Amino acid sequence: MEPGQAIATGRRLVEIQALDLLQQYRLGQAHSRRQLSGKNQLRVGNEGARSHAHFCLKIAAAQHTQLASLVVASRLSFHREMLMAKAKTAFVCSDCGSDYHKWQGQCSDCGAWNTLSEIRLGSAKSTSRAPAGRSGFAGELAPARVLSEIDVSEVRRIPTGMAEFDRVLGGGLVPGSAILLGGNPGAGKSTLLLQACCGLASRMPALYVTGEESPQQIAMRAQRLSLPLDELKLMAETNVEAILAALDKHQPRLLVVDSIQVVYSEELSSAPGSVSQVRECAATLTRAAKQRGIVLLLVGHVTKDGSLAGPKVLEHMIDCSVLLESSDDQRFRTLRGQKNRFGAVNELGIFAMTEQGLREVRNPSAIFLERGEKQSSGSVVMVVWEGTRPLLVEIQALVDDSPLGNPRRLAVGLEQNRLAMLLAILHRHGGLQVGDQDVFANVVGGVRVLETSVDLALLLAIVSSFRDRPLPRDLVVFGEVGLAGEIRPVPSGQERLSEAAKHGFARAIVPRGNAPKTAPRGMEVHAVATLGEALALDF
Ligand code: TYD
Ligand code: MG
Repeated sequence: MEPGQAIATGRRLVEIQALDLLQQYRLGQAHSRRQLSGKNQLRVGNEGARSHAHFCLKIAAAQHTQLASLVVASRLSFHREMLMAKAKTAFVCSDCGSDYHKWQGQCSDCGAWNTLSEIRLGSAKSTSRAPAGRSGFAGELAPARVLSEIDVSEVRRIPTGMAEFDRVLGGGLVPGSAILLGGNPGAGKSTLLLQACCGLASRMPALYVTGEESPQQIAMRAQRLSLPLDELKLMAETNVEAILAALDKHQPRLLVVDSIQVVYSEELSSAPGSVSQVRECAATLTRAAKQRGIVLLLVGHVTKDGSLAGPKVLEHMIDCSVLLESSDDQRFRTLRGQKNRFGAVNELGIFAMTEQGLREVRNPSAIFLERGEKQSSGSVVMVVWEGTRPLLVEIQALVDDSPLGNPRRLAVGLEQNRLAMLLAILHRHGGLQVGDQDVFANVVGGVRVLETSVDLALLLAIVSSFRDRPLPRDLVVFGEVGLAGEIRPVPSGQERLSEAAKHGFARAIVPRGNAPKTAPRGMEVHAVATLGEALALDF
């Protein structure tokens, strides 16, 4: 090995004496040649590994010493810049991000099995020169500006023509952004994007790259859905380099890639769909989209446990991540924002899958409130706040004698732990003993309610089922229940009440903190401060 060079031989090891070395170097008492070569090994800790190693190398160069081995804490950027100038690949754990030179079955850092996969590092040429400002020793720093100097003129958003889709995106597509649309097979991802693109193509050049279906299939579907066929360009391609070439040729402003899991790069040896391919191709496409200011829509598959197939890093790269989910009965599709750099998340868009493709549902409360004529016990309507709008949903509970020694508590669409907690509150502050009862709770329509405002509605539904006394049909309830049995206010109380009034609800039980100055017309509002007060209300 040449003086001034080092190789990495292992992973995170304890402490290093490089700091001493550095100080002595600065004081002009650098280690003698003998000391350093006699030591033969420098151990660099995780903290400040980069600068330590820089100094070690400088010293070694200055003293014409060889460092037999420089053991460093491996951080990818560090490897790239300093140690692995020649190496082109590394193996990265998709769970914790640790990297290794060789493949191994288990990640020694986080203990996960089979999570290591090959990734490509930058080429030797580009990595050998660190950008100025990152070197830390010389060169110019990147200019820093105060916030007020930065141009923030409003980016013009491009409406997709589908209001529900736009709302989830925070008002439309932002040029130069990357959006990931996830969903189960058959959720309707391709249909949604085809409908949006055919509409958009008349306003901006659009390219739809399909890797899963043939162009004939897509054309047939577009024809059947009576979409405009003249503007959208279609291409069947899975090679990322070819997609980039097509970008140069067709110069689209909108690019759809369906799906990212089938796209592959020639420069990687791993199979399409593998972590490294997905990550590399997504990064390449995102970079291209940002450089050219085009909107990139990526379709991503969802694994059995509901997470996006591919490494988590995919979600870091893109600007928006939206998930298309189908309801239990397959009629409705909910589009939910999971991450959005340009707007609020937890927005909910609702579509119905029909013969003519996806149709927007403009008044979702109405569909979740389809109830039979007869009011049964254990059911009550509540108002959830989804992103920027209220949504009326029905909460159901069933309380029944349990044949089991350990009664069941089951929550569908609600948090399981919250149910257990609410039952304890009910016992303590409502004086209701349900210890020997099975308790099932459900949100109708396959909606997931993660808000605390569901507490009061759920408790009233449980009590109603337990006593077998139906609650009035025109009653709406919301409020958070505290461990002391107090009813706490929730955000946007007034808007929730107005939404309920709009749908003909005439009675409401709300937290005292949410009591309106003037109740919506035709509505009787009961403001309660404790669980006892709520249970004492008799209709
Ligand atoms: P698709 O968009 O192919 O799903 P994904 O790309 O998410 O896998 O949609 C497929 C489902 O949608 C399919 O099961 C049939 C249904 N569908 C309809 O019911 N009506 C329609 O008009 C279309 C186009 C699809
Ligand atoms: Mg598809």
